[in-house]
Amino acid sequence: MSGIVFVTGADHGLGYALCEKYLQLGFSVAAGKFFEDSVNLIELKRVYSDSLEIINLDVSETESVKNAYSCFKSKFSHLDILINNAGILGDITKTIYDEIDYDDIVRTFQVNALGPLRMVNYFLPLILKGNRKLIVNISSEAGSIGNCYRKNWFGYTMSKCALNMESALLQNELRDRGVRILLFHPGWLKTMMEGKLNEKAPTLPEEAAERIIYHIDSFKDHKGYLPPYINNDNSEILPW
Ligand SMILES: NC(=O)c1ccc[n+]([C@@H]2O[C@H](COP(=O)([O-])OP(=O)(O)OC[C@H]3O[C@@H](n4cnc5c(N)ncnc54)[C@H](OP(=O)(O)O)[C@@H]3O)[C@@H](O)[C@H]2O)c1
Repeated sequence: MSGIVFVTGADHGLGYALCEKYLQLGFSVAAGKFFEDSVNLIELKRVYSDSLEIINLDVSETESVKNAYSCFKSKFSHLDILINNAGILGDITKTIYDEIDYDDIVRTFQVNALGPLRMVNYFLPLILKGNRKLIVNISSEAGSIGNCYRKNWFGYTMSKCALNMESALLQNELRDRGVRILLFHPGWLKTMMEGKLNEKAPTLPEEAAERIIYHIDSFKDHKGYLPPYINNDNSEILPW
């Protein structure tokens, strides 16, 4: 396997694991670095000095996405797979009986929903030149209205739901150009999403990354009209 992949939010967790797996497979990888001193990525660059490009990226800032695009374009002629992985949880404690922090919800939308839109908006010319033309959006089961059981997590659930709609809109626009959009619930992961390592979660990010790469390959020619919303744990399609 070979090709060029861009992963957003690659400092640690699932994004880092995806970068490492793709590098092991022989891909050229552009890793979006959000954290100033990303020790993990710097260490990875020592091992994969030729095939890893670290690119500063805050997906919530249009200027940062623009700069990341210029930087990527100066090094690569096309992009095969864009993985919109960067995400934040935002506040998950407030219920409808509390005073809701609307700025926190807007921040969460800026990263989880508008971040992927900005990325596609700028990187599309190079995706259209790619050999695979794949856009992979890391959503969550939390964005499914059909499976909704929560009573709060307003910013996170609503922003992931918006990402799902965005994926359907993009698929409708880009279907005729040969672009395929895939949506994932990656599983419940042992990562730092809640600010500290989630020891209770069952799945290591490396395991989830390996399954996502397997699923990307098995769903890339999916015949469905809308993007498949893939549950990475069991390969089933989630309801919208
Ligand atoms: N963990 C789970 O159980 C779970 C379940 C369902 C879906 N997901 C989704 O899976 C994806 C990966 O999450 P994870 O579990 O690996 O969490 P994570 O370890 O917190 O990783 C998220 C990454 O995104 C980066 N990031 C945050 N804000 C950013 C911004 N504005 N621009 C660019 N990058 C930014 C983070 O950087 P810093 O940490 O340095 O701020 C971090 O590297 C997310 O989209 C998440 O919603 C996770």
